[in-house]
Amino acid sequence: MTTKAVRYNEFGGIDVLRIDEVERPEPGREQVLVRVKAAGINPSEAVIRTGALVDMFPSAFPSGQGSDLAGVIEEVGAGVGGFSPDDEVIGFSNNRAAQAELVLVEVGDLVHKPEHVSWAVAGGLYVVGVTAWGAVNSVHLEPGDTVVISGAAGGVGSLAVQLAHRTGATVIGLASEDNHEWLRSHGVLPVAYGDGVGDRIRTAAPGGVDAFIDTYGSGYVELALALGVATERIDTIADYAAAAKYGVKTDGGSEAGPGAEILAELARLIADGQLELPIANSYPLTQVREAYTELERRHTRGKIVLTP
Ligand SMILES: NC(=O)c1ccc[n+]([C@@H]2O[C@H](COP(=O)([O-])OP(=O)(O)OC[C@H]3O[C@@H](n4cnc5c(N)ncnc54)[C@H](OP(=O)(O)O)[C@@H]3O)[C@@H](O)[C@H]2O)c1
Repeated sequence: MTTKAVRYNEFGGIDVLRIDEVERPEPGREQVLVRVKAAGINPSEAVIRTGALVDMFPSAFPSGQGSDLAGVIEEVGAGVGGFSPDDEVIGFSNNRAAQAELVLVEVGDLVHKPEHVSWAVAGGLYVVGVTAWGAVNSVHLEPGDTVVISGAAGGVGSLAVQLAHRTGATVIGLASEDNHEWLRSHGVLPVAYGDGVGDRIRTAAPGGVDAFIDTYGSGYVELALALGVATERIDTIADYAAAAKYGVKTDGGSEAGPGAEILAELARLIADGQLELPIANSYPLTQVREAYTELERRHTRGKIVLTP
């Protein structure tokens, strides 16, 4: 029996992506086979696909793609406890395999999906969720602090602003005008990026800026330093060259802590209405190229997901 999966056979642009018919995976020991309902897409996947990160993330071809997924358990392998066929789950693949109809997931990389979390939100939650968690924790916010977050309405940013706000800190979110109302509705002070952004931040934060989380790159580390933020309270997940040059933090998903535990807590907050992950768009799996075309414009509010 075969099943559909996103694949590419060489490094390149969006046009190397295709949908292949592949053998139905069989769950091994402590593995679970999940029928995917939604799978998020992330900017790093597009960069890996170009081959630009081949030293850090080697690829074997044909390569699959994707970490984020949510779906219904089809079959469980030997030694799996706590999960059964037909359970609704959220999880992640460490094998770049999530963008497919059927995905093998290690049982430790799955959590149960709360009823009141939509498939799209569940399927887009893992990478941006744990990254936002790690980034916000890294700058040690307290009530009375003011933190600036760039890319404030993107996948990571939209969750980071809300997690930062929950600490009691004042949150300034850098975003284009279209996102300002959404940010205000989540207790965030919106500031437009572009020429003069430093002056606009100083006006919005007359008492100064204590911390800076950069989810976009392109000069925000330098801006944070110019605003007088201490290096240990600047975190960038997008500009590793600036981090190396100035000694600021790069904490993201890898530093956040146990992925499944954080995923479960984020899903609980969403189910309780305490956290929102906006869904900008959903595409059928067969339109994976169109989905990445939209993502690579880099103006997504929240997440884009594929729905196999
Ligand atoms: N280290 C890690 O663990 C880790 C994990 C995940 C992601 N990342 C990295 O983090 C970055 C963000 O990922 P993401 O999924 O959040 O991306 P994303 O959803 O594509 O981010 C899009 C956001 O960027 C904003 N933006 C566009 N131009 C901007 C500018 N000049 N200044 C400020 N913001 C601007 C957009 O805001 P407007 O729509 O308002 O223009 C949009 O909200 C990527 O570089 C990704 O590779 C790292």
